[in-house]
Amino acid sequence: MRIAVAAEHGPGETRVALVPDLVGRVLVLGAEVVVEPGAGARAGFADDRYVAAGARIDVDAVLDSDVVLSVQPLRLPALGRLRAGAVTISFFAGPDRPERVAALTASGLRAFAMEQVPRISRAQPMDALTSQALVAGYRAVVVAADLYPRFLAKAVTAGGVVPAARVLVIGAGVAGLQAIATARSLGAQVSGYDVRASSVEEIASLGATPVELGLPPLEGAAGYARQMSPERAVEQHRRLAPYVAASDIVITTAAVPGRRAPVLVTSAMLAAMGPGSVVVDIAAEAGGNVEGVSPGEVVRHGPVTLWGGANVPGTMPSMASTLYSQNVVHLLALMVRHGGVAPDLGDEILAGSLVVG
Ligand code: NAI
Repeated sequence: MRIAVAAEHGPGETRVALVPDLVGRVLVLGAEVVVEPGAGARAGFADDRYVAAGARIDVDAVLDSDVVLSVQPLRLPALGRLRAGAVTISFFAGPDRPERVAALTASGLRAFAMEQVPRISRAQPMDALTSQALVAGYRAVVVAADLYPRFLAKAVTAGGVVPAARVLVIGAGVAGLQAIATARSLGAQVSGYDVRASSVEEIASLGATPVELGLPPLEGAAGYARQMSPERAVEQHRRLAPYVAASDIVITTAAVPGRRAPVLVTSAMLAAMGPGSVVVDIAAEAGGNVEGVSPGEVVRHGPVTLWGGANVPGTMPSMASTLYSQNVVHLLALMVRHGGVAPDLGDEILAGSLVVG
């Protein structure tokens, strides 16, 4: 059994699907681990560390492999090099998805998508959406602290007292709750808002203040949010505006699966913030929660410095790769039976994450 680690080719992708520390966990499955040269370089993992961990570096790693691990989906030319029956494990979404599905099907390959792993308790160790959102939530606070020209924590100095920064996190899912915990740990005064009813308790459990706007919750399927109607959006903007204006830092993380991210902070709301305030939007690539945001850029918007995220987990590639590798190794272990790769599609985790096969 041969497991390959592909080098990433996507623009701006810094992560790697298997870090050297976890090579041993694949070897004990009875597999050989083969790594494309430089696969871990941008995440800080040089080839010699893979060799020291028991892997082999090979420019033709994907040829003749049973499983190919990557973060981004393999591109069409790479798919053409795989042997029939091989399995790919990666995130799978992307603009050329239909072409990739067709190529995989035509070549008799099987593909599992990390973002399709069902969000059930047993699958938590394989939940890459969660692990990458944790990194993004943490990173959002670090970025905000860097751009904000003052302390986050209250400081009592001989000359007088400096108050703690007021941080508002909008969207309290996995990333938002991690942002709340991180901002709290840096001493900020934190509040949080989400459209899901359960978020009030979750925000409070982290020692932050839940913002309650008096609007009906928007609970959707499987613990996700529902889309806002245009009327609801206007009303939510109106009620949220004073909280945004009173904040030094706003972090937005809100998403609705399969849809453009909702606009939660308008230009008028930004204009009402104080000088030196910072807004960090980690949903920028999905359309953005903040009007005027641009993924991968920092723009000035009146009094506000507005940061738009682009592959936010990839801005902490070592951490994000380590957590992603753990998720991948758990999924891989589920597929290995009788010394070979034999995914049991009666298992709801494997059936749920299968795209082609
Ligand atoms: P997500 O990335 O889809 O969205 C982020 C957050 O934005 C969500 O909390 C959502 O409610 C919020 N949001 C959407 N529209 C909004 C709006 N108009 N205004 C304010 N907030 C808005 O969600 P994520 O972080 O992937 O997870 C959401 C939920 O999924 C979790 O809180 C949990 O209930 C469930 N989940 C379950 C897991 C499991 O059982 N293994 C693992 C992870 C999440």
